[in-house]
Amino acid sequence: MEFLKIKGGKQLIGHIKAAGAKNAMTKLLVASLLSDKKCTFFNVPNIGDVEITVNLCKEIGSEINWDKESKTLEIFTPVLKTTYVPQRYSGSNRIPILMIGALLGRTDQDIIVPTIGGDLIGTRPVDQHIQSLQKLGAEIEYREMKKEGAYFAQAHQGLHGAIITLNYPSVGATENTILAAVRAKGTTLIKNAAIEPEIIDLILFLQKLGANIMVDTDRTICIQQAVEFQEVEHTVLADRNEVASYAMAAISTKGRVFIEGAEHLNMIAFLNKLREIGGGFQVKQNGIEFFYDKPLRGGLHLETDVHPGFMTDWQQPFVVLMTQAIGSSVIHETVYENRFGYTHMLKEMGADIELFTQCLGGKQCRFASSNHHHSLVVKGPTVLKAKDTTIPDLRAGFAYVMAALLADETTIISNVDFLDRGYEDFVNKLVSLGADITRVTIPNKKGKAALQTLLESPSPVK
Ligand code: EPU
Repeated sequence: MEFLKIKGGKQLIGHIKAAGAKNAMTKLLVASLLSDKKCTFFNVPNIGDVEITVNLCKEIGSEINWDKESKTLEIFTPVLKTTYVPQRYSGSNRIPILMIGALLGRTDQDIIVPTIGGDLIGTRPVDQHIQSLQKLGAEIEYREMKKEGAYFAQAHQGLHGAIITLNYPSVGATENTILAAVRAKGTTLIKNAAIEPEIIDLILFLQKLGANIMVDTDRTICIQQAVEFQEVEHTVLADRNEVASYAMAAISTKGRVFIEGAEHLNMIAFLNKLREIGGGFQVKQNGIEFFYDKPLRGGLHLETDVHPGFMTDWQQPFVVLMTQAIGSSVIHETVYENRFGYTHMLKEMGADIELFTQCLGGKQCRFASSNHHHSLVVKGPTVLKAKDTTIPDLRAGFAYVMAALLADETTIISNVDFLDRGYEDFVNKLVSLGADITRVTIPNKKGKAALQTLLESPSPVK
């Protein structure tokens, strides 16, 4: 059992380096499976989801050399050892489903991929992935196997280009379709595609590999069949989720943090909202500095959306930030129908938050007539009280860490591995910024009594 012990009340001050993006690196590894040439990646984040994806690629036949010190990873998949993704990867994260697109592009053999996992923030269907791949000529069916299901896919006759219109600009469905389309005969158009920076990073990688991909101004992505591949060197873009998370932690604690490597271009929507509430930032030559400037203002209306909108993954720490602002703000989550579960804990910590099933703020979203709590009103400023808590998902996890950094006393947080999946070396980064945070391992059987001791023990001396 691993816990975080956080004593609140410290300002975050200092300098950290942004890690490579989780939601790009994992896809780049899968994309490399299309080719039998060596691919070298730089700025590779050392996080759980990359580790899982590395193991997944090794199962398929990749030879991987990952130097974690220099953040460099070489991957080379001369032949596919198998096209069967083992059932133990079921539920691990969202990556296995993308193996269908990449493997359909690489081989005409039968492919088996288990059901996928990921954070419990909505139903997260994969209907658009499957329908798009079927349009490219793949046969895909879902079958029950023992206790769990798996997708059986094949394109014995090869894939062919098609015009595909997504109902919603899904990140995963766009990526899966691009991966398969790179090897499909002719030209593929994906209309209403997602154009997140991590997808553009994938396209940059694929272009280096040998693909011809064009992104049009109207969310249309055009992919032409690639015939020959070449070796690639690629530097992974900075993780805009990590950057925004530390930015919000810095400002909420009235601190000042410079994030080296933060990329301005991918933070526009975030920076606009930050400026609206009075959060300080300065874009520098090699990163962005975030700082507390003046009391934060509420009165904000924020809608999460697909890129170039305000990212849904920024929403949870932003709500914590708004507990420190003066006045009421409205947050409308339009990407996932169930991404406010974490607010119950914030309320127990003293946050003034009310949830609504209506679309607050004007825009009607896909969840308008559903019964899901997907809008909220948060009133501030509030003093947060320490409260032991269990992390339900990755971004909620960072929101809890932020709340604990603001709380009056010591908070114990469990389910730390959620944070390890997406935040590189986060305990050391926070310690380097002055946070009073320690990671504690307790033997399972000691349970609650050990927790009590943990609460009573003094904080580490720094
Ligand atoms: N959707 C469908 N059908 C589909 C696919 C998606 O209805 O076939 C719906 C989903 O249910 C959801 C919406 O479309 O309501 C958006 O889902 P999307 O496919 O865009 O998300 P994803 O690819 O599963 C990625 C990131 C998420 C991030 C979203 C949105 C990865 C591994 N995950 O998920 O990241 O929130 O895009 O930007 O890239 C995180 O890092 O914490 C995280 C959850």
